[in-house]
Amino acid sequence: MKIALLGGTGDIGQGLALRWAYDTDHEVIVGSRDPEKAREMADEYEVELSSRGVDRSINGFANEMAADRADVVVLAVPAYHVRDTVEAVADRLDDVDVLVTPAVGMDRDEDGFHYKPPGVGSVTQLVAEAAPDDVPVVGAFHNLAADRLADLGIELDLDTLLVADDADAKETVRLLADGIVGLRPLDAGGLANAAEVESLTPLLINLAMNNEGMHDVGVTFE
Ligand SMILES: NC(=O)c1ccc[n+]([C@@H]2O[C@H](COP(=O)([O-])OP(=O)(O)OC[C@H]3O[C@@H](n4cnc5c(N)ncnc54)[C@H](OP(=O)(O)O)[C@@H]3O)[C@@H](O)[C@H]2O)c1
Repeated sequence: MKIALLGGTGDIGQGLALRWAYDTDHEVIVGSRDPEKAREMADEYEVELSSRGVDRSINGFANEMAADRADVVVLAVPAYHVRDTVEAVADRLDDVDVLVTPAVGMDRDEDGFHYKPPGVGSVTQLVAEAAPDDVPVVGAFHNLAADRLADLGIELDLDTLLVADDADAKETVRLLADGIVGLRPLDAGGLANAAEVESLTPLLINLAMNNEGMHDVGVTFE
């Protein structure tokens, strides 16, 4: 499949791009608001992969062009910009099978991070509201630490929770997640359950901040 990571120049975009390029044959496309930045980061990812013996071609484009070329589009942008980003590429999503969102709304005070969902209930539901009607939305990858993904020397042993109303779209993302070695996708239900999944993320960050050795903590369910 062709996977475009909009905002693929950032932390979670880098982690997912590297893992998909390292572990699978999917074509990885880096998107950015700035096409030059997208190309530079794509080159950096190629260098990192090459240093580990994997020669892959990764292309970088403006977000619109990246979305245009993809089967699956991942919105790897800050939660407060998912709506703008979807709107900016909406007319390029005709042939896109799935829009994936890992975004979590949070704020921070002296006690740590707190879940701050938008009025519609969750960022995933906000994306579903902003997306064209015929483009299914899947929430995934919310609870993964980007640094742990981006370090290809680390063996993952993590779960990622999927929420979606469209069974085919959820299956597509399940297979994409399953392709990442050491990542187990689990079905967490429909889009209405997204808040429960997203709200784990500030908990994980607070655990990482307050406990030695828990940097980049993730979840597995037994
Ligand atoms: N970091 C993590 O460990 C992690 C883990 C799980 C989920 N997430 C979620 O994934 C999302 C991205 O997180 P991140 O840490 O990767 O964020 P980030 O590195 O701060 O930003 C990602 C990219 O978003 C783009 N961006 C920044 N401001 C924007 C704007 N105003 N409009 C459109 N695009 C903008 C930038 O790309 P360009 O400048 O190239 O356009 C940037 O490289 C967040 O919603 C976060 O909740 C993050």
